[in-house]
Amino acid sequence: MSALPGPGIEPVKGRTWHRAGPLDRIPQDEGLVLGTVPRTSVFNCDGEVLCIDDTCTHEDYSLAEGWVEGCVVECTLHLAKFNLKTGAPVSPPATRAVATHPVATVGGDVYVALPVSYLVKSDLMKENSDGLA
Ligand code: FES
Repeated sequence: MSALPGPGIEPVKGRTWHRAGPLDRIPQDEGLVLGTVPRTSVFNCDGEVLCIDDTCTHEDYSLAEGWVEGCVVECTLHLAKFNLKTGAPVSPPATRAVATHPVATVGGDVYVALPVSYLVKSDLMKENSDGLA
């Protein structure tokens, strides 16, 4: 998608806005993996939608599988925690941040601004979003 999602949504240098899907598809206490390479996921953080790279920086494991409390996700493999707003690790063993991505909600739909280098499926919220269909 090359057009901006809606009025007041600004272009983000080096990124393209993509419609991820309906806001009501995002669960309350867990992440939802998007169909991108590399993998990204969206979270509902106290009513605010946030998007991060999905792979834990400690090892190769999905953060969408993690436990979410407030705006922190805990990786279920070795229990590192990440701030969903900044991507920063807040608890070991992870020491590197995960990338965060701008999000906008327009008319009940979620849009994410992903780096142009990311590969994106046409239906980002389609179940079984491993890789590209
Ligand atoms: S893979 Fe996430 S904490 Fe080890």
